[in-house]
Amino acid sequence: MTENPQSKHTELPQSLGSATLPELEAMAEAKNLFLQKVIWVHHWTHGLFSFRVERPRSLRFRSGEFVMIGLKDGDKPLLRAYSIASPSWEEHLEFFSVKVREGPLTSRLQHLEVGNYIFISKKPVGTLILDALKPGKRLFMVATGTGLAPFLSVLRDPETHEKFDEIIITHTVREQEELAYRDFLETEIHDDEIFGELLKDRFTYYPTVTRGEFETKGRITNRIRSGDFAEDIKLADNRFNPETDRVMVCGSMAFNKEMAGLLQEHGLVEGHNNNPGTYVLERAFVG
Ligand code: A2P
Repeated sequence: MTENPQSKHTELPQSLGSATLPELEAMAEAKNLFLQKVIWVHHWTHGLFSFRVERPRSLRFRSGEFVMIGLKDGDKPLLRAYSIASPSWEEHLEFFSVKVREGPLTSRLQHLEVGNYIFISKKPVGTLILDALKPGKRLFMVATGTGLAPFLSVLRDPETHEKFDEIIITHTVREQEELAYRDFLETEIHDDEIFGELLKDRFTYYPTVTRGEFETKGRITNRIRSGDFAEDIKLADNRFNPETDRVMVCGSMAFNKEMAGLLQEHGLVEGHNNNPGTYVLERAFVG
């Protein structure tokens, strides 16, 4: 029998739980999951990476939503929530993940290679969606760590640009090297044929770094409180305006809690899918 040249891609290696493609297909079928091929992997740092899979043809999602993704773990799938980082019109799905040595899923997921397969749930969900926000003028997307992922999707949704005049993404990380997607947000998106024009003079990327030297140093919450943020991005006043400002928040539990408190002090009210408000939040998933 001649060897199938694809065969090395149809099995999950030991590091991902050793399985043949038919075994994975059977599990996906039994658990009502998509089984998708990995087409791109990029490691940002020793603790962060991104990857893309082929998009299931029937999957529809709203920018900012998340799905469950995972690997075979014995006789069942091991799944964790992951925000989709790619826009809803894109032909692939992109995810942004931490690598945790003891993490049940990410300790294995970090070994993904092009040609491997992962499970994806069929129903995307989440609250970081435009529908959960009342109409406004400025959209702030405030992230820590991998909480940036859903905003990479929302930023590239044409509806975002129809609904808002100005878009601001902030990304707070510990070390400067953890500013994943910095080149994309600082340069590449402005060179994009469509988004370059759409975002011209309307989009601000505001990275902050909490440990180590950086121009805009410190937690975003502290920079907002101190007035540094307002000064840096030339906001007319030092407050969020509940009439015109809308905020999406995605980060660690502690960060979300602190941001929510701050936004409430400014008079903003949390929105939900069936009851839009002036801010929405979701925890960045650990995976
Ligand atoms: P810090 O370095 O001061 O803890 P983590 O990796 O722990 O999730 O943190 C990601 C980034 O979010 C770090 O820069 C961290 O700052 C910041 N951060 C953590 N908790 C909060 C909070 N409650 N408010 C604002 N920023 C926070």
